[in-house]
Amino acid sequence: MSFGSLVFTPLVKKLQERYGSRRQYARMENSGASQDRFTPFESQFLAERDGFYWATIGTAGWPYVQYRGGPKGFLKVIDDHTLAFADFRGNKQYISTGNLLTDNRVAMIMVDYPRQARLKILGRVEIFEGDKAESWLPRVRMPEEKTVIERVFVIHVEAYDWNCPQHITPRYTAEEIREGMQAVEKRMQALEQENKALRKELEQFHAS
Ligand SMILES: Cc1cc2nc3c(=O)[nH]c(=O)nc-3n(C[C@H](O)[C@H](O)[C@H](O)COP(=O)(O)O)c2cc1C
Repeated sequence: MSFGSLVFTPLVKKLQERYGSRRQYARMENSGASQDRFTPFESQFLAERDGFYWATIGTAGWPYVQYRGGPKGFLKVIDDHTLAFADFRGNKQYISTGNLLTDNRVAMIMVDYPRQARLKILGRVEIFEGDKAESWLPRVRMPEEKTVIERVFVIHVEAYDWNCPQHITPRYTAEEIREGMQAVEKRMQALEQENKALRKELEQFHAS
């Protein structure tokens, strides 16, 4: 499925016509290019995420956005059109879960800030709880996470789309900064050693 065929409603198309972008987007919509199967590029991008936002729809019609985060890799790429993650016991509001019980559609967005890349996904969520979750648990469990897994969300992807990198401010996690600083730290240590040796030489010079 192409992403456009799911989100370009008649009114959206009218606006694209009015503002001169319809031809370009019609081409994208009808190109036949598959946007529902991940290539290795998307799979790797997804496997490296430590968080994403997802929106569900409640019976009152309000869209509801929630952030989900965890250690890198908590979002599992099951195959080229399926994702899964564990729903740990949390604030017990159950808004996303409740919404998904009446409408299983979800919109997700994940951002790689250092590389300024963002991916949007539309999918349908299957919820596995209790006995039905058993076979899923080993696939979604994070060894370091001790919180109870209440359910497993399995996302059947219907379409995805990459956004342009515009307006993504590069941001780095503490771990990424530490990694990036390693070379600087090494250089500083070398300079400190050199400084120490030079001071010693200078002391010896003055003493003689
Ligand atoms: C003890 C505790 C642990 C939580 N752990 C996580 C977590 O690992 N990842 C996460 O995205 N939210 C975590 N949360 C936040 C929310 O519980 C979580 O986003 C919530 O279950 C979503 O529910 P909702 O769809 O009703 O908004 C935690 C909250 C609590 C109180």
